[in-house]
Amino acid sequence: MSSAEDFLPIRGWDHIEFYVGNAKQAAHFYEKVFGFTPTAFQGLPTGTRDRSSYLLSQGNVRFVVTSALTPDHEIARHCALHGDGVRTIALEVADCAAAMTEVRQRGATIIEPFQALEDKHGVLKTGVIKYAGDTRIKLVERQHYRGPFAPGYEQIALRGEVKPTGLAAVDHIVTNVHLGEMNYWVDWFRRILGFSQLCHFTDDDISTEYSALMSKVMENGSGKIKLPINEPAEGKKKSQIDEYLEWYNGPGVQHIAMNTKDICTTVRELRARDIDFLRVPDTYYDELESRVGKIDEDMDEIKELGILVDRDEDGYLLQIFTAPMQDRPTLFYEVIERHGSRGFGVGNFKALFVALEREQERRGNL
Ligand code: FE2
Repeated sequence: MSSAEDFLPIRGWDHIEFYVGNAKQAAHFYEKVFGFTPTAFQGLPTGTRDRSSYLLSQGNVRFVVTSALTPDHEIARHCALHGDGVRTIALEVADCAAAMTEVRQRGATIIEPFQALEDKHGVLKTGVIKYAGDTRIKLVERQHYRGPFAPGYEQIALRGEVKPTGLAAVDHIVTNVHLGEMNYWVDWFRRILGFSQLCHFTDDDISTEYSALMSKVMENGSGKIKLPINEPAEGKKKSQIDEYLEWYNGPGVQHIAMNTKDICTTVRELRARDIDFLRVPDTYYDELESRVGKIDEDMDEIKELGILVDRDEDGYLLQIFTAPMQDRPTLFYEVIERHGSRGFGVGNFKALFVALEREQERRGNL
């Protein structure tokens, strides 16, 4: 798409905000386990009386974990209904006022209208629109804001050394929606945000004997923002997407994929910090080299760490998926290293789904 047609130029991912039961402990987890640096905070000590939020950064990835300080609060209700999960996907735009006018005219549901928030660090411009379920998309203009994150936030004094794990950027964020809703959201991204469809997997690509899904990938004009959307397809048993929708009580973010330049080091480090990854059967590696050809990495190390490999016409990618990050079988993470490939690892879907269904069975959800 040429820039003339791109009516909503997006500079990149700004941040992802999670509503959680206990932001203080979540921040500690992301710092100690994933290697994020806590960089800014708002809460009682900074004069915010209804919520507590921590900004955590690593590479270009920014997470905000937020919890309610009062019982009858939309954050508390969100957590009761969904468990810990993604509330807001924030995208950085060059002109927030123009972007909000554009999306409003195109029929977006406005949750928070355009506003310019000012403090001694400058002005931060924002607007929020509704996305699937209770998930929201926030547009942020921050080129005239020099503060640690946003008005209300103060910089956090570091207590000790943070050990990063090599996570460098958000690659893509996947949303699960109900059966029959995927095409609505595909059209919504086209209409409201000017995204286009990158590629299309049918349930022939993505199925096992029991469960299947349909997935379409939407991307913005520059290709920086990729948002795949999954819906369950009908299988003999309950699909992983159905399991998510049941436990999250509706549509929402299924996984966040983050790039690394060295997946072996990142995964080794995360494993050492007790992150559980999905394990495909060892037989996956028997035919791997004949399927994907030569790669730069050591195949023995790839196998030892349980990393998956896929190749398409543009190159190859290495990826791995964590177990769910909370008690409910809802949000998980993907770590991905790209060598040319712009895909999502469709060649791995079958092996992955077999592994996923084994986990679903263990949870009594198949
Ligand atoms: Fe993914």
